Amino acid sequence: MRKYDVLIIGVGIAGLYAAMRLPESMKVLVVCKDIPWECNTFYAQGGIVTALNEADIPVHVEDTMKAGAYHNDREAVEILSATSLETTADILERGMAFDKDAEGNLLYTKEAAHSVERILHADGDATGRYMHYFMMVQNRHMLQKNTLVYDLLIEDGRCYGVKAMVNYQPRTIYADQVVIASGGIGSLYAFNTNSRTVSADIHGICVEKGIELADMEFMQFHPTVFVDTPYARKLLLTEALRGEGAHVVGEKGNRFLFEYDTRGELASRDIVARGIFDYKRRTGEAVYLDFSMFEEPWFHARFPNITQTFDALGYHFPQDRIAISPAFHYANGGISVDMDGVVPGIKGLYAIGEVSRTGVHGANRLASNSLLEGMVFAKRAVEHILGQEKSSGKTPAFDKDYDNILHQKDDKKYKHQLRQIMWKDVGIIRTREGLIEAKNFIYDVKNREIGRLLELRLNTAAAIVAAALARKESLGSHYIEKADYA
Ligand code: SIN
Repeated sequence: MRKYDVLIIGVGIAGLYAAMRLPESMKVLVVCKDIPWECNTFYAQGGIVTALNEADIPVHVEDTMKAGAYHNDREAVEILSATSLETTADILERGMAFDKDAEGNLLYTKEAAHSVERILHADGDATGRYMHYFMMVQNRHMLQKNTLVYDLLIEDGRCYGVKAMVNYQPRTIYADQVVIASGGIGSLYAFNTNSRTVSADIHGICVEKGIELADMEFMQFHPTVFVDTPYARKLLLTEALRGEGAHVVGEKGNRFLFEYDTRGELASRDIVARGIFDYKRRTGEAVYLDFSMFEEPWFHARFPNITQTFDALGYHFPQDRIAISPAFHYANGGISVDMDGVVPGIKGLYAIGEVSRTGVHGANRLASNSLLEGMVFAKRAVEHILGQEKSSGKTPAFDKDYDNILHQKDDKKYKHQLRQIMWKDVGIIRTREGLIEAKNFIYDVKNREIGRLLELRLNTAAAIVAAALARKESLGSHYIEKADYA
C-alpha cells in the first residue's frame, strides 16, 4: 500500500505555503480538485497584510478585533500579527516581488478599517495571482490535479487519508498526516467572488463525521462586486480602490454610506456591504463605484488588471463609473482548529486557511488578513507535523465507496435552487422566517435522490443556517433584521 507522509488538499496560499515549508525528504502529495489556479488565492486582488514592525502589532491586533466585533480569539489574532513579521520576511527573502517605489522601498496600501497603510500588493491589483505563481514555482513536492476528495478516512480518532476521484476514477490515498486547505464555501451562494471549485465539500464531510464547524453564521459579503455577468464567479472591485479614495455613490452621485457610518466608504466590510444592500432595497436605485477623482495614468498604473478586465467589457476607467452589488466573498467560520491547525480529537488531521476557523476573523474579517492567515497557520501546522513521530500502527481497510453516485440527474437543479435560497434567506440581511424557509428547503432536498457531492453541500448549508438561527442577536456579518425570536 502506497502511503504518503503528508497529504495536502488544496493549492491556495495555505496549501502551497505548507508544501513550501515541508522538507523535500518527506513524501508529500499536494492535490487540487481541478486545475491549480482555480482557487481563491489566485483571484485575490487587494493584497496581504503585514504588521509594519513590532510597534504596529498591537495596532493591527486592535484593527482586526474591532472589525471582527471583538468576537475574535485574541490569542489567534496576536499570533497572526506577530508571525507576519517572519512570514513576510521569509517570502521576500525567497524572492516574492511585491510592488516597490522608484527607490526600491516596498509600497503599502490601506483598505477599509485599517488605521494605517500596511497592505503589500503585487502588480497593483493582482496580489493573489502573483503570490500563487510564486508559490507554485517554489513547490518541490508532487502536485496532482483533478483530485476531488469525497471522504475522509477516519477511524478511532485517527485520520488515515481520503477517498477521491482522481481523473474521474475512485482512488484511496493514504497518509500519516492530512492537511485540509480546500478553501471556503463560495458555490453555495448565487452571487459570489470565489473560484468555481470552492464548494464546501470537505466542510460537509466534517458535518457527517461529527467534526465541529464554528462561527458558520459569519459569512462575509464583499461590498463592491460587478455581478452583471453570466458566470458564477462575479468580478471583484478590490477594497484597495476605496482605500485609495474611490467613492460609493447613488444615482445622483450622493455618497450615502455616511448615513450608515461616519467612516463612509472606509467602514468595515460588513457595514459597507449592508449599507449598499439596504440603500438599493430602500430606494430602488442602482449603486456605483466612482473613480472620477483619479488621474488616468495613475489609475492605470495602480490598478492595471482591473483597468484591462473592465476595458474588455466596454468600461473606461477612471472616467466611467460602474454599477456594484455586494456578493458572497469569504467564510469567516469553518473547521474548528487549535493554534497549530490541529483538528481536535482527530489525530493526523489539520485544517488551515479559509476552510478553518482559528478565531482570527471573529464576526467579520479585516480586509487582506486572509492571505496572511493562510501563511501563518500553514507555518504552524507544518511545525507541528514535523514534531510528530511517524505512525507505526496498522491502517484499517476502508471499504465503503460511493462510485458513480457522486452525482444524480436532478442535482444541478437543486444546486441552483440552493444558491438562490442561500443568497435570499441566508445573505446580508436575515430574518427568522427566511432562515426557517432555507432550513426546510435543505431538509426536503436531503431526503430526495441526490448525489453525494450535493449532500455534502447541503450539510454545510445546514450548518450555516443552524448557526444563524442559534445566534439571535446581530453581530458583525450576521445581521438579523427582525429580532422576532420568541
Ligand atoms: C479585496 O481586494 O478587496 C479583497 C481583499 C480581501 O478579501 O481581503
